[in-house]
Order: sequence, then structure tokens, then C-alpha cells
Amino acid sequence: MYNEKVMDLFKNPKNVGELPGANAVGKVGNEACGDIMQIFLKINDNEIIEDASFKTFGCAAAIVSSSVACDIIKGKSIEEALKLENQEIIDYLGGLPTHKIHCSVLAKEAIEDAISNYRKKQAKAKK
Ligand code: FES
Repeated sequence: MYNEKVMDLFKNPKNVGELPGANAVGKVGNEACGDIMQIFLKINDNEIIEDASFKTFGCAAAIVSSSVACDIIKGKSIEEALKLENQEIIDYLGGLPTHKIHCSVLAKEAIEDAISNYRKKQAKAKK
């Protein structure tokens, strides 16, 4: 069902676990399958994502999607990270089975949630 690249990454995912010093956390779930994904970001004062990691309780596609998404957004500004489309994750992986496309969407949503939480925190701090 999965291609070789996906299987390799599933066996050896990168960016796994909580990120020490993370200042933004996003959490999303998919009610249909019950999978949960957390993304941790370390964002510097210039709003550049210095580091990213994930914790995912879910299927292989969700795990590899979050691993790849972290790689893609590292070094990007939060504005650029918000432009990440799940298709970019799928392309990076060399494709996902059609019924697993939603797993890559979860990674995109988790990043959006983390950045939105970060912005809320920043806005509060400015008050
Ligand atoms: Fe739910 Fe993959 S089946 S995220």
C-alpha cells in the first residue's frame, strides 16, 4: 500500500518527540480515525522556525507526514510555513494512497494550530 520511501521513513522517522524549548504547540485530531498529532515549534524573535518536532498517535501516513512537514518548515518564517500545502508533503513522499491523503492534511492543520497558538500567546504578552 505504501511506497518504499514512506516505509523507510515510517521505520526511521525524524523529528520525533517533544522539543525542548518549544514555544509553540499545536494539536489536532481526526474524529473519523481517532488519530492525534502534536507539533512542537521553536520560533525565534524574527519569527523563523528554528526547529520542529512531532508526537503522533496514528497511522503510518500520519507519522511520516508529520516527520516530513517538520523538515519542510524548519528554517522558514511562520508566514511561509502557513503556506505549506499537504500536496507538498505528498510529493515529498512520492505519493500516498488516496484514502491516506487526509493524514497529510492533519500535519498541515497541526502546524496551523501551533502558529495560531503562538500568535495568541504573543498578542497576550503585548497587552
Ligand atoms: Fe487517521 Fe491516518 S488514518 S491520520
